[in-house]
Amino acid sequence: MTKQLMTKEEIAKRVIRKEDFVADKAAFIDAKTPGSDKKENYCIIGPGVSESGTAVINLKEPHGFNVGAAAMPNGCVNSLHLHQTAEVFIVARGTWRFIWGNEGTDGEAVLNAGDVISLPIHIFRGFKNIGSDDGFLFSVLGEDDPQSVTWGPQVLRDAKGHGLVLMEDGRLIDTSKGMEIPEGVDVIKPTPQEELDALRKVSQEEMESRVFWFENRVPDEDAFLDSRSEGGKKLTYGIIGHGIATDVNRPSIVNNEHSFGLELIEAEPGNGLNKFSQPTPQVLIVYKGEWKVTVESADGEEFEVVLTEKDVFSVPKDHMRSIKNVGDDTGFLYIASGGDEWTALDWSEEVIEDAKKHNLELDEEGKLVKK
Ligand SMILES: [Fe+2]
Repeated sequence: MTKQLMTKEEIAKRVIRKEDFVADKAAFIDAKTPGSDKKENYCIIGPGVSESGTAVINLKEPHGFNVGAAAMPNGCVNSLHLHQTAEVFIVARGTWRFIWGNEGTDGEAVLNAGDVISLPIHIFRGFKNIGSDDGFLFSVLGEDDPQSVTWGPQVLRDAKGHGLVLMEDGRLIDTSKGMEIPEGVDVIKPTPQEELDALRKVSQEEMESRVFWFENRVPDEDAFLDSRSEGGKKLTYGIIGHGIATDVNRPSIVNNEHSFGLELIEAEPGNGLNKFSQPTPQVLIVYKGEWKVTVESADGEEFEVVLTEKDVFSVPKDHMRSIKNVGDDTGFLYIASGGDEWTALDWSEEVIEDAKKHNLELDEEGKLVKK
């Protein structure tokens, strides 16, 4: 079977610069509630859970997960809500307080830049920027369709006071702008008390075990086939699921199913990932530094791009690529990969041959064997 490669032009469309993110200020029902009215939401990959119907989505192609972001100034709040699928936040800038539970009082976790939190499904969560005005979070939501958000009862009541009404079909109606409540669709009612009472409680300890604390990160320096080779030296951190480490035994912080994996790559200038291809969606999210990504294309020559802080790139699957820190300082790159299963990478022949010189080989399933 011949491989279908994308043209350079097609690949370029998958590079989403931070300047390309389009803010939607009316994405959610709490958009007018004081404290939440300065929230800017972005749909970067997939529709996410926006309620406005007007959100611009940078890349609509289904990935098996959604990538979005929120920019909020100091003091701004994202109100208590609940999701049907996994929700993970990567803090790009600022200091954020996360709260959870029906009243938002079951615990709190304060995260700083580089930290990642995975909130369990079916519990109410909210968060507030308690740091600088340029607070910025990436969010990764599980599944292609993360379904609609369930808002806390008080959130719905507050919104109604500002003329905002949420319909059962997910539409957000702003009666203050003269929009009429459509017929034939019910208005969403607050979650009944017995349903609220049935939701499970997440302890402080359990939630903290689901946080990747950047400052306390514990590296694995030998988790990839190219880890001992020129240009492939790196420290890696499993955060959600298996990710793409060649070593299936690399530990990870959170191991329940999310529909995606997440890891952090830390590399010095000139290093990163040597040539490989991946059979599943791969999304690069730059935390720090300058990363050059080189991808094979249908045009015969390679596509090249240098990504900087907050840029996002969905590398097309089954295309050979290399990913290198081309900056002057240590670089940090988050990589989200589709699926819950461990993914065997398809390494280039040069990488496989060079690894042998460093006593690293692949078994028949593509798993790392250290000799
Ligand atoms: Fe959320």
